[in-house]
Amino acid sequence: MSAAGREEPCGPPGGCYAKRVLVTGGAGFIASHVIVSLVEDYPNYMIINLDKLDYCASLKNLEPVSNKRNYKFIQGDICDSHFVKLLFEMEKIDIVLHFAAQTHVDLSFVRAFEFTYVNVYGTHVLVSTAYEARVEKFIYVSTDEVYGGSLDQEFDESSPKQPTNPYASSKAAAECFVQSYWERYKFPVVITRSSNVYGPHQYPEKVIPKFISLLQHDRKCCIHGSGLQRRNFLYAADVVEAFLTVLKKGEPGEIYNIGTNFEMSVVQLAKELIQLIKETSSESETERWVDYVNDRPHNDMRYPMKSEKIHSLGWKPKVPWEEGIKKTVEWYRENFHNWKNAEKALEPFPVVPPFI
Ligand SMILES: NC(=O)c1ccc[n+]([C@@H]2O[C@H](COP(=O)([O-])OP(=O)(O)OC[C@H]3O[C@@H](n4cnc5c(N)ncnc54)[C@H](O)[C@@H]3O)[C@@H](O)[C@H]2O)c1
Repeated sequence: MSAAGREEPCGPPGGCYAKRVLVTGGAGFIASHVIVSLVEDYPNYMIINLDKLDYCASLKNLEPVSNKRNYKFIQGDICDSHFVKLLFEMEKIDIVLHFAAQTHVDLSFVRAFEFTYVNVYGTHVLVSTAYEARVEKFIYVSTDEVYGGSLDQEFDESSPKQPTNPYASSKAAAECFVQSYWERYKFPVVITRSSNVYGPHQYPEKVIPKFISLLQHDRKCCIHGSGLQRRNFLYAADVVEAFLTVLKKGEPGEIYNIGTNFEMSVVQLAKELIQLIKETSSESETERWVDYVNDRPHNDMRYPMKSEKIHSLGWKPKVPWEEGIKKTVEWYRENFHNWKNAEKALEPFPVVPPFI
């Protein structure tokens, strides 16, 4: 187990930390934003970031807090049960926010078993160790993709899980393990299912940072299939607020959708980004920056979702698309090289057979 960052000598000035919070996957996109907020807003909490530093991770995402007294980074793998047990024993964890996962849908068609291993087995290791350590709250970060696609029917938290790709299937299976600890032991787990998130810190393999980075490198946006698939996009800062809300007010055993009504097709997204980055409103000039490539083996059309349950806890998204996307575009101009292998993320994805 290797730890970086400045060790706290004996807790914050004046006493011990009120809570010790383990955040997994904290060098990735969403959890890095959550950690920065937690470290800054909760100086009486110790925030421990467990991440194996996979290809999509960057410790630069944590630079604003890396020297803070109430922050600690530990490099390690959630699938290593001996290591995870030791970590819980040594760090005396009170709360877990579990984000670590394999997250790239395209890759999941090629490396399906790795997704099952990390997302299902890794989550099982974590929830079982957290249960044995008598953790007081375990938040499992899942996705709207567990519902599968729909054109009209809006999903709520009681809708059936019907995943259509290996990534979504592994997230849905992991949910079942987490939920069973509530059903069997009343171990206080909470599950969130979020729409697509965008903003700074996201490895440029995902659609928004990929299109932005391609355009900033004078390359075309590669659109899967027709590009008519519609996606809901939430800005990272809004999602951080959603997780802080669930941390404070989420009820044990409950599931919360974290969604937005804001939705656009992938073609529309590409066109908006071209207009913003290439500063053109000409249709023909816009078309020049678009390349239609083979579709995924399966590509859900929409994930319409109701989020009234988390609204009743006091959360709603606030950041308008126009503001969030401008900040994101600016960030990638300066920070694309935060990942050593960022160029690799821009390569076209190989056409693959469906997973078996
Ligand atoms: N990004 C989205 O739009 C979105 C939407 C809904 C749900 N989610 C969920 O949110 C969570 C975070 O997503 P993200 O986009 O920030 O992910 P990401 O891919 O940016 O980061 C994942 C992090 O997990 C770490 N990790 C992977 N395997 C690990 C292992 N075995 N042990 C320890 N660390 C490991 C990686 O190093 C990386 O830092 C995921 O669980 C994902 O399913 C994401």
